[in-house]
Amino acid sequence: MTEAKLEAWLEETRSFAPSPEFAKQANAQPSIYAEADADPVAFWRKQADRLVWHKEPTKTLEWDIPFAKWFSDGELNASVNCVDRHVAAGKGDKVAYYWVADAEGESRTITYGDLQKLVAQAANALTELGVKKGDRVAVYMPMIPEAVVTMLAIVRLGAVHSVVFGGFSADALSSRILDSDCQFVVTADGAYRRGTASPLKPAVDEALKSCPNVKAVLVVKRTGSDVEWVKGRDHWWHEIVDKQSTEHTPEFFPSEHTMFIMYTSGTTAKPKGIFHTTAGYLTQAATTHYYVFDVKADKDICWTAADIGWITGHSYIVYGPLINGVTQIMYEGLPDSGGKDRWWKIIEQFKATILYTAPTTIRTLMKWGEEFPKSHDLSSLRLLGTVGEPINPEAWMWYRENIGGSRCPIVDTWWQTETGAIMCSPLPGITATKPGAAMKALPGISVDIVDNDGNSVGNGEGGYLVITQPWPSMTRGIYGDPERFKETYWSRFPGKYFAGDGAKRDDDGDIWLLGRIDDVMNISGHRLSTTEVEHALVGHPAVAEAAVVGASDDLTGQAIVAFVTLRLSADEQMQDQAAVIEELRVHVAKVISPIARPRQIILTPELPKTRSGKIMRRLLRDVAENRQLGDVTTLMDPTVVNMISGLMGSGDDGDQ
Ligand code: WTA
Repeated sequence: MTEAKLEAWLEETRSFAPSPEFAKQANAQPSIYAEADADPVAFWRKQADRLVWHKEPTKTLEWDIPFAKWFSDGELNASVNCVDRHVAAGKGDKVAYYWVADAEGESRTITYGDLQKLVAQAANALTELGVKKGDRVAVYMPMIPEAVVTMLAIVRLGAVHSVVFGGFSADALSSRILDSDCQFVVTADGAYRRGTASPLKPAVDEALKSCPNVKAVLVVKRTGSDVEWVKGRDHWWHEIVDKQSTEHTPEFFPSEHTMFIMYTSGTTAKPKGIFHTTAGYLTQAATTHYYVFDVKADKDICWTAADIGWITGHSYIVYGPLINGVTQIMYEGLPDSGGKDRWWKIIEQFKATILYTAPTTIRTLMKWGEEFPKSHDLSSLRLLGTVGEPINPEAWMWYRENIGGSRCPIVDTWWQTETGAIMCSPLPGITATKPGAAMKALPGISVDIVDNDGNSVGNGEGGYLVITQPWPSMTRGIYGDPERFKETYWSRFPGKYFAGDGAKRDDDGDIWLLGRIDDVMNISGHRLSTTEVEHALVGHPAVAEAAVVGASDDLTGQAIVAFVTLRLSADEQMQDQAAVIEELRVHVAKVISPIARPRQIILTPELPKTRSGKIMRRLLRDVAENRQLGDVTTLMDPTVVNMISGLMGSGDDGDQ
């Protein structure tokens, strides 16, 4: 949406104030901002009481920029906090998850009591396989209950999970295993997508060819497809986990004990291993889940429609909701597995009260049409959330009217893998919401929008989003690379965390996120770096050079457009351009993930470069988005851009 259209839209709709009924019963009452502002550190210390401690912390924050320690002399166990405590409090029969399979009619109900036993068995099995405190364990699994059980069992032992999204390729998996030296992998034979079994274990086998340190692979049988088996290394879950005792005595670990690593794309080809520690992460995941989603443990059925392979799944399918003791829906399939109304059927059947998803999915559901949600009773819903990318006002309004029945508040939550938990969001019951705005920093969080020189911008102005004070769930760094951590986040504006997002304050001072300002693309809410895709392209023998940009896309937010020059010999040999383009698209999907498959590849004899030889991505983005070309005077050969613009029409439009 253009700026002018957006303004016109806002002029008309302005904002939506919370209903008095919602406001009255809301977990967050207006005094929360003043309380947190008065003493943010004390505010977080109080929130840490949401955790059960083996040893209560006496310290709250130690801050040696950019390294923070929170609650450092406390001791706790993450899985006890998520599971055992609820059973001990007499809530063992409460449902933790309604797990809904890809196939209609298949589901499992798992209570907190069941979960405790499953986690104990998995922890015992992992111990038998040799997993010890501090070991890294890669998790490459579909959305099945065993994935959550695995994560909880790993942290129960004080080991560190590195969950790799099941859609990533063998190459992507092996580089992540190697980077953090994981010695164990938990996976499944395959996954179901729209009724079809797709393999997972073969990617693990392929990845492990280059990971000699992996000692054991634990495999859940999900699809029953044939898999190769490495004797001594591979173990079936049902053979080794099911026979274990359902009791496990936990150990306790210091607050700053590393809990998990999550790889995310930065501006270079190498993904960053963002790591989080225990108590601060859990405190903020639980606190934000409590206030932002306004959860009532005795009433709500929460559905975070995300994959556990991303941070959203970690914080709002696993840790935050479990600490708060709520009942959740966990869904294995795609939005249209079994039909385009599948989501609405699930909401109707389980009486979901809270739905949290990404704008790109909302746009897809919107494209399918109102008739699908209309044919189901969605009246159980009382709050909606979005995450992952800026949401366009049309999608926000569609979500509000068609899914939320114009009665549910919408929380647009801004955060990152690095922040660990939500940082900016309206608080339902307090904040009047605007379609497309994340509105405000949460209580206890300090953000600012600054100009190039690091000075705060005024209302009505845009700049860079920065975080000015440490927060409990902040990443403690990039695994094995403290220098890169400092350089990436803390050097642009000294003493401030540089998020990499553009943002503006509107005339009321409310925050709007405007998208990434670096070379990170956001494709359907998934982060990918331009360099990562370029790297994959130049890894193909036919490619001489590649430049990749994220061009705006109505459905996926951004889409990948690649400009590629071929090696002369390949160019001569491969006359069929469409075939070359298709081969390159498949190649990128194979090397990284199908998410990274370029929407469009343009073969060009040359790329526009500055006189110093730098590829002018800005111009390529203009070309990809059919914009008036900016300043081309610094180009070595200005005619190149016009030539590329001419080629755009002949590029492959792709099928994504
Ligand atoms: C973007 C996902 C606008 C942003 C939790 C950020 C958003 C990146 C929003 C982090 C939002 C996330 N509005 N943009 N509500 N939420 N983003 O690490 O560019 O996968 O930097 O974490 O997503 O993506 P990540």
